[in-house]
Amino acid sequence: MIEGAIDLRLGSPCDPPPDLVIDAMASAADSLGPYGKSVGSPVFRQAAADWMRRRLDVEIDPESVAACVGTKEFVAGLALLLGAGCGRGRDTVLIPAVAYPTYAVGAELAGCRVVRVPMTDRFTLDLAGVDADDAARSRLLWVNSPGNPAGGLDDLEAAAAWGRERGIVVCSDECYVEYTWSGAPVGEVGLPASTMLSSGTSGVLALHSLSKRSNLAGGRIGFYAGDAALIAELGERRRELGLVVPGPMQAAGATAWSDQQHVTEQRERYLRRLERLAEAAVSAGCFDVRLPEGGFYLWLDVGDDDRAAVATLAGAGVLVQPGSIYGAAGAGRVRLAAVRPDAEIDEAARRLEALRGVLAGGAGWRR
Ligand SMILES: Cc1ncc(COP(=O)(O)O)c(C=O)c1O
Repeated sequence: MIEGAIDLRLGSPCDPPPDLVIDAMASAADSLGPYGKSVGSPVFRQAAADWMRRRLDVEIDPESVAACVGTKEFVAGLALLLGAGCGRGRDTVLIPAVAYPTYAVGAELAGCRVVRVPMTDRFTLDLAGVDADDAARSRLLWVNSPGNPAGGLDDLEAAAAWGRERGIVVCSDECYVEYTWSGAPVGEVGLPASTMLSSGTSGVLALHSLSKRSNLAGGRIGFYAGDAALIAELGERRRELGLVVPGPMQAAGATAWSDQQHVTEQRERYLRRLERLAEAAVSAGCFDVRLPEGGFYLWLDVGDDDRAAVATLAGAGVLVQPGSIYGAAGAGRVRLAAVRPDAEIDEAARRLEALRGVLAGGAGWRR
């Protein structure tokens, strides 16, 4: 019996990083003396490029791959570093209607307008819905596939083409790509996945993280890859900001990108947890419960009032996020992160199931 609330609010990994990655970090402690390069060591860049080839079936020159200090700082800084909002007529950043909040924060830090791109009922971008004037003023479009919070998979080729036609940089945040559950198997690994770089690198960037893939969120390491001129320009600017991943973490990262076995095991854990929570959501009375197409969040339809649903669930001992914090289009949904140990997920599922009567009776949670 678990006492207290089960916290399913955050996607912060609860499983340990692989031993071989920790060993690689410890063995590289002697790299702490000299300054490291902002773009990353040749070994790290090569390992990331090799992973992209094996996993995503794209060939990328390691010179067009560069390290970042976890991907959140890159998300928050990209509009600023692209010089958006500097009075060149491109003062707008386009973000998904339902999105990870840091896209908007980064645009605001750069002094830009934030325009939300409408989404389809499967929570994918509906680029035809972007106003032509907003598109003409845009410097950057953020795509997030698999998406947080809604788990949709975008047509990345179409998004890249849309941006290229309009001279808008498209950055594809692919930090959940290893947890893609639907679609055709890709590359040597033979599991579903997709990257924006499949349509070439011109005018586009893809962003990848080891936080979720390898349970290294505390280690702060990821990479960005794509358009050679953009990578060179961003690398220069980021060097001036002192954005450098410490050497031992780069060694750990290179080892992590080179190993797939730990990811296979982690995929099994998340799928099991998602399925357990989804079953419970169905028997608790939620309608139209679906597993996400990617990512590790359940995005549940709870009727009109997501805040009331959050309160009902908190009363039952399960903490979740209200959908409206991801944008007005998220109202009426709640997000559950399947990112707690199995025993806690089981207990959360039992608590959801025990809510059956309340759901059927309403209490602000009805379709
Ligand atoms: C969509 C998305 N992008 C980026 C990040 C940042 O990840 P990190 O900075 O740990 O690489 C997160 C973290 O939750 C996320 O959900």
